[in-house]
Amino acid sequence: MAMDLSSWAAKIHSKKEKIPTAPTLDHLQKYEHELFGRKEGFITEAMKALRDLPPDQIKTNAQALNMLKKECQEAIEKRRSELSAPSTEKLAKEDAIDVTLELPQKERGHLHLIPEFIRQVEEVFGRMGFDTSYGPEIETEENNFNLLNIPATHPARDAQDTFWIKTKDPNDRRLLRTQTSPVQIRYMQTHKPPFRMICPGAVYRKDEDATHSPMFHQFEGLMIGTDVSLANMKAVMITAMRELTSPDIVFRFRTGYFPFVEPGLEVDMRWQGEDKTREGNWLEVVGCGMVHPQVLINCGINPPMSGRPRLAREAWQGFAFGFGVERMLMIKHQIPSIRSFYQGDVRFLQQF
Ligand code: PHE
Repeated sequence: MAMDLSSWAAKIHSKKEKIPTAPTLDHLQKYEHELFGRKEGFITEAMKALRDLPPDQIKTNAQALNMLKKECQEAIEKRRSELSAPSTEKLAKEDAIDVTLELPQKERGHLHLIPEFIRQVEEVFGRMGFDTSYGPEIETEENNFNLLNIPATHPARDAQDTFWIKTKDPNDRRLLRTQTSPVQIRYMQTHKPPFRMICPGAVYRKDEDATHSPMFHQFEGLMIGTDVSLANMKAVMITAMRELTSPDIVFRFRTGYFPFVEPGLEVDMRWQGEDKTREGNWLEVVGCGMVHPQVLINCGINPPMSGRPRLAREAWQGFAFGFGVERMLMIKHQIPSIRSFYQGDVRFLQQF
């Protein structure tokens, strides 16, 4: 004889009580099957037994049974999520991270030593109150030569073998700048003295050997005031050069000729080693001097006065210098050939 509803209900109740302590997911699944299985599941069977009740009892019993069914489902879901959540203990065993494990080193890139050096230059001069300015690499003949006091017939133009650019208009003469000095011109035309600035960047000349490359980098400095002197120039340059290269650098100031400065100087540098005994080669790294009065006039600074001579305290004056970046790095790191900078050989680059 088939069991009646109350016997099924008793079975369901006792199974339901076991759910919250089901030891594993497998046990839980077994209980679920025993309760809800399509064949002989306790709840399925109880539903069938409902039909044998007298009609007036069906409704209330069906409600009670549905309630019980719902409670069982909820209890199963609750226990299932408890059992599925990994315990801390289990995690500690299976998923712990071994912080002592040595991982393969990831390769990290870094700035090429030229832009890195230029950043240092901006930083060191920035601390001395110098503004940084940049100009275009394609320049006008006017800015690169004429306004710098280098007229078309001037022999200094031969010294700078220029890459000329073809233009449609023969009067619009353009070139790849041969020096950073045209940025001085641009700056003086647009700023009112007193000021101090540097301008780093690439420059181009038809030149190639161990210490020359057709493209290289310079940074120019310019300081204009009413009493800026050659002594100030030496102080600024030596302070900056020592900081940018090494305290073991020695300098040699020689007279030099650049049409846009008067007097003009050249500076050679040599690394003598910490023990002060090594005899490296002198390498010319800087041209510098007091900005030529004509250059100041060309840029609208100190316009000629009509009628009377200008008094010294009414006139702006100052110095300019132009460093070769690669040359300084060659001395600093004892690099024999300028080509190493551009070959992109990681064995070279990784040393810095
Ligand atoms: N422009 C010069 C060069 O390229 C260097 C220089 C700059 C000299 C400023 C004097 C003053 O050789």
